[in-house]
Amino acid sequence: MELIYTNKIVKGKKLDFSIADVNEVYEGSVGVLWEILMGEQIHVGADVQTDIMAQKAGVNKNTSVLDVCSALGGPARHLARKYGCKVTGLDATMKMVDEAVKRTEKEGLMHLVTNKLGNALDMPFKAAAFDIVWGQDAWCYVTDKERLIKEACRVLKTGGIIAFTDWVQSGNMADKEWEDLNCFMAFPYMETFAGYEQLLKQAGFVIIEKEDRSPDFAKYCHIYQDKLRNELKSAIISQYGAQMWKAADNGLALWVKAADEGKVGWGRMIGRKV
Ligand SMILES: C[S@@+](CC[C@H](N)C(=O)[O-])C[C@H]1O[C@@H](n2cnc3c(N)ncnc32)[C@H](O)[C@@H]1O
Repeated sequence: MELIYTNKIVKGKKLDFSIADVNEVYEGSVGVLWEILMGEQIHVGADVQTDIMAQKAGVNKNTSVLDVCSALGGPARHLARKYGCKVTGLDATMKMVDEAVKRTEKEGLMHLVTNKLGNALDMPFKAAAFDIVWGQDAWCYVTDKERLIKEACRVLKTGGIIAFTDWVQSGNMADKEWEDLNCFMAFPYMETFAGYEQLLKQAGFVIIEKEDRSPDFAKYCHIYQDKLRNELKSAIISQYGAQMWKAADNGLALWVKAADEGKVGWGRMIGRKV
């Protein structure tokens, strides 16, 4: 399956992935596979984690939320439905935005949710437009995290909240392992918790919370592997072929091992723009 990458050029401490690669992944069957594995909220912990972060970020009916890398818009609709807030979803993949629009219309949430095509590195919004900038398990795809955080700061009102979860590098690893893990996901690189903390402070945020939930991440990696190997195996093979299933299984096995060894993890950061 060509859209599961096996090698990419390493440039400095980054793999040479671009927005075009991300588009290929999420326009194709791999994007669909993620929804099958994780649900329409394509992140660890689904709506449970969305609610935890909503409470911590202070989402309510008076807040405007920008979900950066919103994919199918699952979290955006959940927030609008449950908290009555206005949500703008921003995503760079046309297929994801089209699908998010369709699902928003189907649920009759157009008065609260807007889905927009655009790049997180050049957000198509005016300064100080939002109360909350939100992200779940997606900023690992972004090629320049420093610029992403600066953009988030620009579009936030003073006193506004940045709240996100992400997949991070949490331990040392050999170059080959680092390349294989990132290549499988089409990540240019993963930040570390300390790296995110520094980027947030540099951009003008005070850190409200930094929560390392890596043990949960390892548990979820096992859950996804188990689903892939058991309940979803025959459906995926009949729909996408044995080669795709095998490539997915090989890649996921690398992630399960790295998560068990504490080399990759996941967690939440919350900051306030001062
Ligand atoms: C794992 S999915 C996001 C899941 C979503 N946050 C959720 O919780 O349901 C990754 C998404 O990030 C988007 N993406 C990656 N890089 C991007 C960028 N630079 N700007 C905007 N969207 C981007 C992809 O198109 C894809 O839809």
